[in-house]
Amino acid sequence: MDSKKNLFIETFGCQMNANDTEKILLSLGNAGYVTVETAVEADLILINTCSVRDKAEHKLYSTIGRYKAFKKNNPELVIGICGCVAEQVASNLLKRLQFVDLIIGTKNIHKLQSIIEDYKRTKIRRTFTGQAPIEDDEEFNSTLIEGFTNSKGVVKATLSIMRGCDNYCTYCIVPYVRGSEESRSPESILGDVEGLAKKGIKELMLLGQNVNSYAGINKISEKISFTELLKKICNVRGIGRVRFVTSHPKDISDELIMLFGSEDKLARHLHLPLQSGSDKVLEAMGRGYKSKEYMTTINKLRTLYPDLSLTSDIIVGFPGETEEDFSKTLSIVKEASFESVFSFKYSQRPGTKATEFADQVPEDVKKERLERLQSLQKEITAEKNHALVGSVVEVLIEGRSKVSSEFLSGRTECNRVINFPKPSDATFFEAGVFKGILVTEACKNSLRGKAVERSQPC
Ligand code: 5AD
Ligand code: SF4
Repeated sequence: MDSKKNLFIETFGCQMNANDTEKILLSLGNAGYVTVETAVEADLILINTCSVRDKAEHKLYSTIGRYKAFKKNNPELVIGICGCVAEQVASNLLKRLQFVDLIIGTKNIHKLQSIIEDYKRTKIRRTFTGQAPIEDDEEFNSTLIEGFTNSKGVVKATLSIMRGCDNYCTYCIVPYVRGSEESRSPESILGDVEGLAKKGIKELMLLGQNVNSYAGINKISEKISFTELLKKICNVRGIGRVRFVTSHPKDISDELIMLFGSEDKLARHLHLPLQSGSDKVLEAMGRGYKSKEYMTTINKLRTLYPDLSLTSDIIVGFPGETEEDFSKTLSIVKEASFESVFSFKYSQRPGTKATEFADQVPEDVKKERLERLQSLQKEITAEKNHALVGSVVEVLIEGRSKVSSEFLSGRTECNRVINFPKPSDATFFEAGVFKGILVTEACKNSLRGKAVERSQPC
């Protein structure tokens, strides 16, 4: 019965989680589920959780309580928790949250359809965590892509090329909740890319915790590097733009840096998390590079590609970080002149090494440092955006703008949103088309522009 198949899903966290949600939607969509806008209409509520910082984890606890009451009106309602908190806290969650029926960790979402069916039959509350073979993931991905109808005319997609992480940075919970690093085979990835291209996808975002250490094994047992994989993906007809996250500064190769010069389809954007500008802190974080080495990479990139956009992640208030250490972070942020930065207060994660470190930084100091860093970066981002005014950037048109129906919206190579008035020859400006747009104004979170013909990277 249709009324029993209304799905409401809430997603927290990174692109990896958003990608898992897309997979869940496609898979449950194939099983007849329809997404609904509000949880009250749902027969199945899923929360795809994140545990990278305590704030993200608390979101689960502050959200889920409100769903308890819904069970009174709809006794058939099934509530499940997926994602990183599910993987980490596992069966404790079932004990703690008696109204929750299913806990499905990050490596079991490919089984979601059957897990839900079994639950509806047996009503046995269960936890599904632990490693599944990567082949299961590959098959799951490819089946979903085959069945993907792209009825909404979407032009961008994310695709995971590997999973897990072996770096064990001392602050990070990812290796514990997403497992050890495993690369998908190039054939399987390329099959997915071709499938997506056939369904009208023009831009791909490749996902992995550390894409630079991608090491897929092909059919004839050769190891394929990330750069080799990128070249193959860029060769797929129909795909016009390729991006990737996340890169680790210690693993970025000259081969990859050079590819930005020779591969037109590679978006001129690199996200390279710095985390801290102090060598003492970087060492305590276990990052495997010094600030000077990081800056050597940045300078190389800026010299070779003045138009490349660089973004970064920074943690403030890591244990032992002094004012002097923090001022080194501010200096490097100025020197690197990032287009934008995601900045976070250090958050103690259970089971990670840094949680045990002495010299935890007080919350008020973290807060104050975060504010200083963010206000510095705000100025730099504004300057960078203003510097684009007057230039023509290549934009992948995504459709009608949120600001007005008279405007179209798209993204530049550097992943900035740009809105521009719908031109009179609007048929040449359909979603999925790459066009040159003149930047006329830099707004707070986006750019404004005007359609032109000539195009160049931003
Ligand atoms: N506290 C604060 N920030 C963290 N990150 C990862 N773990 C933590 C933590 N424990 C940040 C890092 C990483 C980004 C995805 O999240 O900057 O690059
Ligand atoms: Fe976490 Fe470090 Fe792995 Fe990134 S590289 S996911 S920060 S352990």
